[in-house]
Amino acid sequence: MAELHIEGLERRFGSGKPALDGISFDVAEREFVFLLGPSGAGKTTTLRLTAGLDHPDAGRILLGGRDMAGIAPRERNVAMVYDKHSLYPHLNVFENMAYPLRLRGLTDADMKARIDRTSEILGIGQLLDRRPGQLSGGQQQRVAIGRALVRDASIYLMDEPISHLDAKLRAHMRVEFKKLQREFAATILYVSHDQLEAMTMGDRIIVLDQGRVQQIGTPRDIYDRPANRFVAEFVGEPAMNTLTCDLMQDGTGWKAVSQDFAVHLDVAWVQRHGLQNRKPGKVVLGLRPQHLTLVPSEDTGQPNVEDGRVYAVETLGSETVYDIEIGGTVLRLWSRRQADGRPLPAIGAPLHFRVNPQALHLFDAETGLALAHPDPGLVPAE
Ligand SMILES: Nc1ncnc2c1ncn2[C@@H]1O[C@H](COP(=O)(O)OP(=O)(O)OP(=O)(O)O)[C@@H](O)[C@H]1O
Ligand SMILES: [Mg+2]
Repeated sequence: MAELHIEGLERRFGSGKPALDGISFDVAEREFVFLLGPSGAGKTTTLRLTAGLDHPDAGRILLGGRDMAGIAPRERNVAMVYDKHSLYPHLNVFENMAYPLRLRGLTDADMKARIDRTSEILGIGQLLDRRPGQLSGGQQQRVAIGRALVRDASIYLMDEPISHLDAKLRAHMRVEFKKLQREFAATILYVSHDQLEAMTMGDRIIVLDQGRVQQIGTPRDIYDRPANRFVAEFVGEPAMNTLTCDLMQDGTGWKAVSQDFAVHLDVAWVQRHGLQNRKPGKVVLGLRPQHLTLVPSEDTGQPNVEDGRVYAVETLGSETVYDIEIGGTVLRLWSRRQADGRPLPAIGAPLHFRVNPQALHLFDAETGLALAHPDPGLVPAE
């Protein structure tokens, strides 16, 4: 039985578009599930309804098999991480964390063990005697997380708990959070708009947009087989390139032709996905920046080698992201930095790249739904 079962949940504020337009999903016991989506997707609304802080217009929420309709927040056994401002200012860190445990009648020894372990992992072990006012913002936020995690709740609801921490601390917390979740065998529903958090920490991800579930799957599913164009463009860094194309026959082969260039497709791939039987119409070709490769100018004229010009270059330490202009189209290409110390090309300089035809995604231009993905195992490592 799922720890949390959400079915046809709707919530409407005022007369506009509903904040939640009939979402359904499950979170299994001990699972770490992400609700990932852009601003306004309905993530916080989903958490608030689950915690009982707000009420749905339609749909059901079951916790541990029990319908939560009419059940008050404090009777739901959920722990929600609020932001740092919810700490008690007059209590020190230990007492802030101990407060919810005392309410539940834990022994002093059990309480201390749990608080020590949690605070050690969160890196606040030395701060237990201090009051919130004597801590930095990031430290206060970690105490707020700790206070929720020490509790023995049936599900932990977290709304972007680490988004305000600095980059280094966030990277540390991503690893530690996952450890803590395993160690405490906690069931967590974690809201984020940061795909890196979701990809690295989540057992499964629910992608939400405009109050609707777009896809539910493991991080790999979501990245390798995005269900639609929205998911494809939202997940992956840098974002997937998408190009509106016509699919057409080219002698014995097939190609996807956009206004600025043509990609020759693998015939077996076209047939495996039944694309040869599609009635003519626009499709959207999806190309991850990692699957475009810079090639020397001698390769010009070879199949799937395109010529463009540098529109912008972004260096990110060990990698480089090129924006390449081909006619009216700009494509992103991701490349590891060359070790030979060659200077980066200047803006406007000619550049040549190869499109890997084994790493293409295809979407219906009308509905946005996926038509084809790369065959597993054929896509080279990035
Ligand atoms: N109390 C409210 N009154 C009116 N509209 C609301 C209320 N709460 C949320 N909304 C609207 O519902 C939609 C979803 O909001 P929600 O806070 O769930 O988004 P979110 O996914 O958490 O976004 P963010 O990443 O910005 O936190 C938004 O359009 C928001 O404006
Ligand atoms: Mg929110």
